[in-house]
Amino acid sequence: MYRTHTCGELNMKNTGQDVILCGWVQKSRDLGGMTFVDLRDRYGITQLVFNMETNSELCEKARKLGREFVVQAKGKVKERSNKNLKISTGEIEIYVNELIILNRSEIPPFTIEEETDGGEELRMKYRYLDLRRTSVKNNIILRHHVSQEVRKYMDSIGFVEIETPVLIKSTPEGARDFVVPSRMQPGTFYALPQSPQTLKQLLMVAGFDKYFQIVRCFRDEDLRADRQPEFSQIDCEMSFVERNDILNTFEGLAKYLFRQIKGVEFNEPFLRIPYQEAMEYYGSDKPDLRFGMRFTELTGTVKGHDFAVFDTSEYVGAICAEGCSEYTRKQLDELTDFVKKPQIGAKGLIYVRYNSDGTLKSSVDKFYSPDDLKKWADAMNAKPGDLILVLAGEKKKSLTALSELRLEMGNRLGLRKKDKFIPLWVVDFPLLEWDEETKRFYAMHHPFTSPIPEDWPLMEKDPGKVRANAYDLVINGVEIGGGSIRIHDATDQKRMFKVLGFSDEEANEQFGFLLNAFKFGAPPHGGIAFGFDRWVAMFGGQDSIRDFIAFPKNNSGRDVMLDTPSQISNKQLEELQLFIGRKK
Ligand code: AMO
Repeated sequence: MYRTHTCGELNMKNTGQDVILCGWVQKSRDLGGMTFVDLRDRYGITQLVFNMETNSELCEKARKLGREFVVQAKGKVKERSNKNLKISTGEIEIYVNELIILNRSEIPPFTIEEETDGGEELRMKYRYLDLRRTSVKNNIILRHHVSQEVRKYMDSIGFVEIETPVLIKSTPEGARDFVVPSRMQPGTFYALPQSPQTLKQLLMVAGFDKYFQIVRCFRDEDLRADRQPEFSQIDCEMSFVERNDILNTFEGLAKYLFRQIKGVEFNEPFLRIPYQEAMEYYGSDKPDLRFGMRFTELTGTVKGHDFAVFDTSEYVGAICAEGCSEYTRKQLDELTDFVKKPQIGAKGLIYVRYNSDGTLKSSVDKFYSPDDLKKWADAMNAKPGDLILVLAGEKKKSLTALSELRLEMGNRLGLRKKDKFIPLWVVDFPLLEWDEETKRFYAMHHPFTSPIPEDWPLMEKDPGKVRANAYDLVINGVEIGGGSIRIHDATDQKRMFKVLGFSDEEANEQFGFLLNAFKFGAPPHGGIAFGFDRWVAMFGGQDSIRDFIAFPKNNSGRDVMLDTPSQISNKQLEELQLFIGRKK
């Protein structure tokens, strides 16, 4: 028997027992005649004690243990004199009478403790060592718990978990595909799924009615903290449903997960906000509603005062930062620099201080009297003590910049608390997006999303105005999931492809399998997919999904541990009939 207990379970109840533990040496300390070793495994840390006086040979052996050696220790559990109440095993220690080195370790490239000296890249390279650290390990265990709860809940409401293939044909989710060359049919390629979208729709045609899967998806796109080239979705689809059925079903899942994982209860239905309203008031289709600071449009109110910036702007909008009227010059300059950053793109920032004594002072006093400023303040329900921040310019850009400024103020004022969760559904997205460069419409979600029924007549007349029967679940400013009611009729689907500029031939070549299936009795259906990594990271209180994935990629899409993407041998290239050359 390798061990009788783990390193995380012994306590005062076990004193006097003879035990065997196995684990890694976290560190050892020599104090006079005693040597103390912290032995670590997945479950915790237990202190081993070696006494020079009672067993000098064993103590010498313990002194030679290096960090991360794998050992087996046999001994007796005793009460500690110097207790560590921060850990569950901190009241006891093991007086060791036999020590076996199961394996040695080279000196690890960084210290495997919470306060590590290892930089990000180094820890990624030795990810298996980083995973020994408690916080990273706990993230992975949290992920396991969430996946178990998802499966429990989905099973309890009649969903069937079905796996779909990974070597498929391209799916249109808006990113580039990762492709895999075929050896047996040289010159042809599989694509890795950006999502199992079309496959889950085929499962509805097959009659499965309620499907789900925790599934790996692959997207070749620019990476950010909340994006990995391979990530997981909780992918779901249902038949004979309308939008409300889907939203209610998955609100159930969300509430269940928050209860089980975070102990948070949501007694009210989640807010539902149309896309237009989200853009108008928060400048974002994923508003963080942990705090207010809604936008007020001042375009009409501010024009005609010879202030060229406002007079020539398509949009003037403002937010009110409560209690910030005493912001210093330096703080205002910082905010101005913030909005002028290239990625935010505002030309400048205008402010109005609504002083506690009721007077108003702005950066545009030359053009606006205190009475004019009072009108702005009233339009925004500002109070003495508040600071009004105004941005102007082209509408779309200004809304986005104001959204960034709102989030920045939310951060500065500590309004984005990690332990507060405000979920909402954003609904009625536009179905199509116009692309100036290629002069054509693209599906905002994907081409199988149906319009809101009453908007069908606009499809050919005014496609830009058509609203999609689509929805996103947004929590704390993060898009956790998205889905739609699908088009289930082959004629309607063809109509959609036509608006998207696909010829019949192109549509058939890419999606013939789906259009064909629709000829054989496709039920009305709809679904949703949740970003599993994002949801787990949110439960773990972090923005970056990387530490909730056992073996993630870095920001350039590299796995620095496996050292890939990497070249393949000439023999492999030949078999695949691939020729790597430089573009002339
Ligand atoms: P969508 O493309 O919106 O929808 O993706 C669903 C959810 O997946 C998460 N997500 C990501 N997470 C990490 N890294 C990425 N690169 C990444 N890309 C997306 C987001 C997102 O909300 N087939 C449709 C769903 C449907 O219509 O049913 C789809 O994939 O949290």
